[in-house]
Amino acid sequence: MQRVTSLNELSAAVEEAKARGLEVAFVPTMGALHEGHLSLIKEARRHTPFVVVSIFVNPLQFGAGEDFEKYPRTIEEDAEKLAEAAVDVLFTPTVNDLYRGNMNVSESAGHLGEIYEGAARPEHFDGMLTVVSRLFEAVKPDYAVFGAKDAQQIFLIRQLAAKKFPALQIIEAPTIREASGLAMSSRNRFLSAENRAIAENLAAALKAGEAASTAGPASAVQAARNQMLKAPEAKLDYVALVDADTFEPVTDGFSGRAILLIAAVVGETRLIDNLDITF
Ligand code: PAF
Repeated sequence: MQRVTSLNELSAAVEEAKARGLEVAFVPTMGALHEGHLSLIKEARRHTPFVVVSIFVNPLQFGAGEDFEKYPRTIEEDAEKLAEAAVDVLFTPTVNDLYRGNMNVSESAGHLGEIYEGAARPEHFDGMLTVVSRLFEAVKPDYAVFGAKDAQQIFLIRQLAAKKFPALQIIEAPTIREASGLAMSSRNRFLSAENRAIAENLAAALKAGEAASTAGPASAVQAARNQMLKAPEAKLDYVALVDADTFEPVTDGFSGRAILLIAAVVGETRLIDNLDITF
C-alpha cells in the first residue's frame, strides 16, 4: 500500500493506475476504521482492483461545540487494517494539503441540509459536501463507495455527483451491524457498556417499525417511537419515514421504497440509523 499526503503524490499514483488501464474506486473516511469501513473497501473492489482510501477528519463538517477535537484519530492502527485489506493508496492529507488555504464552504445542501441531521447540525452537510467535492476532484475516481447508515449524506452526495461529477458512480453499501443490531460507527467507541445497551434500542425501534409497516407508514413510525419510549435515557431527536427517491416524508397511502430514519443522543454521543422499508 502506498501512503500519500500531497495532492501531487496522489495524482501521480492515480494516473499511474489509469495508465495501466485500471478504473479507480474511492472510499472516503474519517478514520477510526471498523468492520463497516472494511465492507466498503470490499464493495469497492467488486468494481475494480484499484482502491484508494482517504482518512481526513474534515473540520468544515463539525459545528461549534461538536466533537471535532474528540473525534477518534487512530491513523497507525487504520493504516495496518488498510494494508491488510490490500488497499492500493491511502491518502491522508493535512488541512493545508487539501484546502490550500481556502477553507470557504463551496457547496450547499440547500433545504435538505436544514432538516433531520441538518436541523441538529446546521453546518454539517455543506461542509461534508465541500470536502467530498474536493476529494472527488483530487482522486478523480470512477466509483465512490459510501455506507447506507448515513442515508441523508449519501442522498446529498448523489445530488452533488449528478451535478458536478456525472461520470462518477456512487455506490451504496449496506450498514454493518453488531450482533445486537447496533449499527457500526466510529463514535460507538464513546459508549460505555451501559450506554451501548441503551443505544441498541435504535436498531430495535427500526425493526419494530418494519414489523408494523404492513399497517402503513404512520404505524411504522409510531411503533418505532413506542420502542424508544422504553429507553427514556436515549434523547430521541427524530423518527421519520421518507421517500427514498426524494427524501420527502411519506404518509399513509404511499407505495414504493421508503427509509425509516432515527437519531438519538445516548450519553454524549449522537447516533443515527435507518432501515429501508418497501410499501
Ligand atoms: O461519512 C464520513 O465519514 C464523512 O462524512 C466523509 C464522507 C468521509 C466526508 O468527510
